[in-house]
Amino acid sequence: MPAISRVVVPWAALSSLAVATAAGYFNDTSVCADSKGMEKCFAKAEKSYANCITGNCSGGSKSCYDSCNGDALCMATKCPNLGVDCINACGCVRATDQIDCTASSCWNQVYSCEYQQTAQDVLNLCLNFDMDQIPFWPAPAEAAGGCSCNIGDVARKEVQISAQLTECSNNKTNLNKMTEVGDMTNYAQACICCAESAIISAIWNVCPNTKPSEIGADYWYDAFLRPHHWDECGPYLEKYDCGSDLGFAAESAGDTHTFPKPNNLPKNGTETLFNTGGVLSTPVSGATFTWTDGLLLHAITAASTNNVVSVTGTVIGVQVASATATATGTSATKAGGAIVYSPPTWAGAGMAGILALVIV
Ligand SMILES: *[C@@H]1O[C@H](CO)[C@@H](O)[C@H](O)[C@H]1NC(C)=O
Ligand SMILES: *[C@@H]1O[C@H](CO)[C@@H](O)[C@H](O)[C@H]1NC(C)=O
Ligand SMILES: *[C@@H]1O[C@H](CO)[C@@H](O)[C@H](O)[C@H]1NC(C)=O
Ligand SMILES: *[C@@H]1O[C@H](CO)[C@@H](O)[C@H](O)[C@H]1NC(C)=O
Repeated sequence: MPAISRVVVPWAALSSLAVATAAGYFNDTSVCADSKGMEKCFAKAEKSYANCITGNCSGGSKSCYDSCNGDALCMATKCPNLGVDCINACGCVRATDQIDCTASSCWNQVYSCEYQQTAQDVLNLCLNFDMDQIPFWPAPAEAAGGCSCNIGDVARKEVQISAQLTECSNNKTNLNKMTEVGDMTNYAQACICCAESAIISAIWNVCPNTKPSEIGADYWYDAFLRPHHWDECGPYLEKYDCGSDLGFAAESAGDTHTFPKPNNLPKNGTETLFNTGGVLSTPVSGATFTWTDGLLLHAITAASTNNVVSVTGTVIGVQVASATATATGTSATKAGGAIVYSPPTWAGAGMAGILALVIV
């Protein structure tokens, strides 16, 4: 009988903060189909975020929020009573609000790096978020108005690799061959090392030209790799076959075929993210659509506009946006129930995980 009955790998980073930018990733709303609407909508999302922090996080105070200008890392450092999980939970709601804002007022930028980074925040900040629910994500390959790195492709691998960590840790075929507790402990660590190496492989190899720090490398180091002894993984990666025996090469498990070791990392790319150009001239999902986040229904109406939008990168055509949509201004709305932010429910929000070994 194996001594390890169950290995739990929650999407939790109990001591780590997934930091989202205070003002959102769109620093120049003039590229949006409805830039005024976009600004208003983001301002509203920011205000709810401030209310969420001051009203819902224990010991939250306006002065703390204000002195940090809403910056998550600053608040967590200066006002630790707020709790990282509560800050992340409020950040999660803000990120989904920003998705709504963009889908309605900046629908011509839904494949941009800025939108993709916002979607990445949703995954990193929200607990157990089903990434397939996030609209326009991952962006199709070669999308008009797309980003130099398809961040969604990296994220999909990260989700699959993390799920495989649970599979690996519970793999009866492997566990049943072991009789010594020491073997099982080593095996459990090997699963973690393979997952860590696969995460590195995804970040470095999906977009080899992009600086790893631009697509989450530092977040993964702080939240998952460093706390789980990545530096000591060399011998495990020598001894165990991560790809076939431990299952990480399977397509559904992240499709990883190279497993870098701590002292043998791939070369860092050097590019910052940039939009590759091209124009989306009509809303991808039509004038109105809905998406769901758990039980919450988000109804989106794309803003109509005559704004002639300039884009960065190579402009393939001149855009005259509008036509299909009838509404003006921003109109992202929510229906179907209130958002509940109670810290226990959200405890451990975040994508990189802690691993708890339950030994009986
Ligand atoms: C927006 O961000 C980009 C990239 O970080 C930077 O190059 C640009 O100057 C910024 N624009 C504004 C208006 O701040
Ligand atoms: C959490 O904050 C929202 C505002 O963002 C507020 O409506 C709600 O009542 C707060 N919940 C609690 C338990 O304070
Ligand atoms: C490569 O990127 C990683 C992750 O951001 C960083 O920690 C490391 O210092 C970089 N290495 C070099 C040589 O720049
Ligand atoms: C479980 O382990 C076996 C034998 O090493 C391997 O072939 C199989 O792919 C693993 N299963 C999963 C789901 O990873």
